[in-house]
Amino acid sequence: MFRPKSPKKSVSQPKQRIGRRRRSSRSKVREGRDGARYSLGYEIYNSDAFEWLEAAPDNSIYAVVTDPPYGLVEYTEIQLAKMKNGHGGVWRIPPSFDGHTRRPLPRFTVLTEQQKEALQKFFSRLAESLKRVVVPGGHIFIAANPLVSHLVYQPLIAAGLEKRGEIIRTVHTLGGGDRPKNAHGEFPEVSVMPKSAWEPWGLFRKPCEGRVQDNLRKWNTGGLRRTSAGQPFRDLIESSPARGLEREIAPHPSLKPQRFMRQIVRAALPLGKGVILDPFMGSGSTIAAASACGLRSIGLESNAEYYLMAVSAIPRLAALDVPDRKKNGTH
Ligand SMILES: C[S@@+](CC[C@H](N)C(=O)[O-])C[C@H]1O[C@@H](n2cnc3c(N)ncnc32)[C@H](O)[C@@H]1O
Repeated sequence: MFRPKSPKKSVSQPKQRIGRRRRSSRSKVREGRDGARYSLGYEIYNSDAFEWLEAAPDNSIYAVVTDPPYGLVEYTEIQLAKMKNGHGGVWRIPPSFDGHTRRPLPRFTVLTEQQKEALQKFFSRLAESLKRVVVPGGHIFIAANPLVSHLVYQPLIAAGLEKRGEIIRTVHTLGGGDRPKNAHGEFPEVSVMPKSAWEPWGLFRKPCEGRVQDNLRKWNTGGLRRTSAGQPFRDLIESSPARGLEREIAPHPSLKPQRFMRQIVRAALPLGKGVILDPFMGSGSTIAAASACGLRSIGLESNAEYYLMAVSAIPRLAALDVPDRKKNGTH
């Protein structure tokens, strides 16, 4: 188990207080294809994020990179069952134009006022916990969606986290752009919404203690790691959806691609020191990316099926050779 160190004293990781679900998995050393041995350096828990965070010590996490359930309802058992049956609920299958079956996407336009309020409460609770467990100067990268990002960001700001910008992931998800339902012929030149071509990732920071340089010396956090000495990390990243082998390894409906995740996790720890937390890891793409970059991480997932998916997917995703073309800052 990791024992993340603060500069003042060692702090121990939270004990598992997860009642019914007690599974956890620690990484092993594995043999790479080139014969090298890598320590994957992660811990994952089949745990509710809020319960785990409540037991976590103050100032024990150095960065958070996460793709939360921002519709909240989409990962309930009832909605997941509807997704698997292929009809009803918050998931929809985008229309197929080329004979290929599309992946289901969550539909956030159907959120009620009540669900939006619940969403804000969820993020307020998350923000309060993160403010306590993240070290001063620690960054939080949080995936959002243009329809709900304001509901996600506002509670983080209200909790005292600084908004430090947004990462724009240019990605074509097949969401939006449709003509009015059942009136395509009548309104052929109308789209109800723009066709989605990007995904925002909110970037937040727990306030530094003093200047950034002071905070870097004391906590190893406060800034973002540059892509190279001559290239700062940029907030625009071209990225295709996860496809092919990645999707075969980790068939999670919200899988994020390794090429994108590796750029984010690398930037999250400015000196490459400390532990990254993903409280909603799904199939573990953040954890795999951290491992591939030689960074330590902790992942939490409440759904037993996705947790088991992560157990097998993380080492395989981490071992993938991801092409470096269009790396952050080079396009
Ligand atoms: C959007 S998905 C993340 C998928 C991830 N990006 C990947 O590449 O696999 C969010 C995940 O959070 C999980 N989740 C929802 N509520 C949770 C909670 N309270 N604690 C921990 N995990 C939770 C869901 O089961 C879902 O797998």
